Amino acid sequence: MSLSAPSPHEPLALYGPDFAADPHGHYRRLRAQGPVARVRIAPGTDAMLVTDYQAAVDLLRDTDTFTKDPRAWQEGVPADSPVLPVLGYRPTAMFTDGAVHARYRDAINDTLGLIEPHLLRAEVSRVAQQLIGEFSATGTGDLIAQYARRLPLHVFTASFGVAPRDRRRIVLGVAGMMDSAAGAADAYADLVGVVADLVADRRARPGRDLTTYLLGHPAGLDDDEAVRQITLIMSAGHDPTTNLIGNALLRMLGDARHGVSLHGGATTAQDAIADVLWRDPPIANLGAHYPRHDTEFHGVPLRAGQLVLVSFAAANTQSPPAGSDAAARSGDGAHLAWSTGPHRCPAKQPALLMAITAIEQITSQLCDLELAVDAAELIWRPGPFHRAPAHLPVRFTPLDTLPEQDIRRASEGADHVPARVGGTPNG
Ligand code: HEM
Repeated sequence: MSLSAPSPHEPLALYGPDFAADPHGHYRRLRAQGPVARVRIAPGTDAMLVTDYQAAVDLLRDTDTFTKDPRAWQEGVPADSPVLPVLGYRPTAMFTDGAVHARYRDAINDTLGLIEPHLLRAEVSRVAQQLIGEFSATGTGDLIAQYARRLPLHVFTASFGVAPRDRRRIVLGVAGMMDSAAGAADAYADLVGVVADLVADRRARPGRDLTTYLLGHPAGLDDDEAVRQITLIMSAGHDPTTNLIGNALLRMLGDARHGVSLHGGATTAQDAIADVLWRDPPIANLGAHYPRHDTEFHGVPLRAGQLVLVSFAAANTQSPPAGSDAAARSGDGAHLAWSTGPHRCPAKQPALLMAITAIEQITSQLCDLELAVDAAELIWRPGPFHRAPAHLPVRFTPLDTLPEQDIRRASEGADHVPARVGGTPNG
């Protein structure tokens, strides 16, 4: 594939099949233009993209110069723009600053803090075994459509106490919001509707679930605020967790280094995930910020209200400058896959646990698991924000039946809630 040289009139496009096929080639071109470069994220919509590691850290921590509130920028964006479902304003932690953000963030942190790791692991294993059981007898499957994309929302809906009959609406709402440009606004509206019903129900009839805890949190969220934060947790949590599972499974199955050791047992799910978080973070480009006033940032002029995105993927894979302390950019704490600063991901631990458990389940249950196509033939989902294989076709030795104790476990506690509710997260 040939990348045409970007001109001042034609910013490099971060969407479509060319970008999806070779994102790191695009990041190299952009880095050559400086720490911040203009990109096109949808037809007619441009953004400034930070590709330099230090500039990314500086921006994500500089709440004096930058705001998270997109409303001024949004006025100039067509209402049907495909990037608005991700970037458009909603009254949540993601799009607020200062005290308003801190109040939402405390409520989210404390609620997620109630998730007990051993119960989460048990719930993920239960759902994983159910999903694997649906295709294990066939000897083939798509580990994205039949597994990685289904698992996170099953777990979230159970934790928040969504009635089984409404779970499908949540799954469709989140998927529609992330994937479909045309139906995204309707999908979000339906998602809000089903979560609003859940919140109204829990106000009337408190349960042992995360929704009930959030409603009773000292932040005192009103119904709409609670609905919006739950919707954020489900939508912000689902897609990247799916992609983390998918990308790490691909590392283990498609990469000769990991593939050999998958069968030899040397490479762990943790190793593959650590590699993905550095080299192909599931949220590749986001961290949307807007200058509060005209400014110069790392030598680049920025206008007030202009959209500035951070490339977590480009920053992570930038070689440290000559003479710098390379050790400062190694280890699991240094990559930006979870972002940094006040808006860093609040769910790093549960997300990691979900991904590790999901991968361990699939690699331990299915024998002779291998990719059914050449890794180079895989199709990646287009779009500027995520790094995600669209499908992961695999083959394996068909399982006639799951071991009896696994079937028993899988069919028990279908509505089991993995969170213990009733105390504070720390006590
Ligand atoms: C249990 C699953 C997850 C949940 C519930 C979750 C939830 C959230 C929430 C609520 C935010 C907004 C925080 C704020 O603005 O203050 C956020 C941000 C973020 N999350 Fe997660 N997340 C999950 C999984 C992941 C995964 C797997 C990744 C990638 C490895 C990830 C990466 C990020 C990043 C980069 C941000 C910052 C986005 C931005 O700067 O605009 N999250 N997450």
